[in-house]
Amino acid sequence: MSVPISLTVNGKAVSVNVDPRTLLVQLIREHLQLTGTHVGCDTAQCGACTVHLNGRAVKSCSMLAVQAQGGQVTTIEGLSAANGELHPMQAAFRECHGLQCGFCTTGMVMSAVKLLEDCPNANEQQIREGLDGNICRCTGYHNIVKAIQHCQSGKAGQPVAAA
Ligand code: FES
Ligand code: FES
Repeated sequence: MSVPISLTVNGKAVSVNVDPRTLLVQLIREHLQLTGTHVGCDTAQCGACTVHLNGRAVKSCSMLAVQAQGGQVTTIEGLSAANGELHPMQAAFRECHGLQCGFCTTGMVMSAVKLLEDCPNANEQQIREGLDGNICRCTGYHNIVKAIQHCQSGKAGQPVAAA
């Protein structure tokens, strides 16, 4: 049995038939081929699967695709501009070396964007607490926090003046 669902993903209307047991992350990765969203645990712990649904950061492995019926989803592919220019948070991660293997990065960036939308003046402690649903096993988090602070400063993605 499959059920029809319609939603908006990265600004585009999408209608698909899915098995009712399909997870939102499966819809994103397997049906829509948006493989920038990762699966690190499938048990709602690592945050690698984080996307935005109706203005909130959600772990897409922990909800069913049918729960997103009629919703607005943004994935990492929808974060950059149409001309390919990186979102300031993506630029900040690159400029501050906020990643190593990159597996967690999608989820980190999506969570960080929402974190600063909700709390633009978050201090370091609040940033660290805001990331407690996202696990990174490479970086020790230090440069991730620095990247978010860099984005917060408004300087991410800007050309660096020659010395
Ligand atoms: Fe969703 Fe780990 S894959 S939280
Ligand atoms: Fe490797 Fe975070 S950069 S898990």
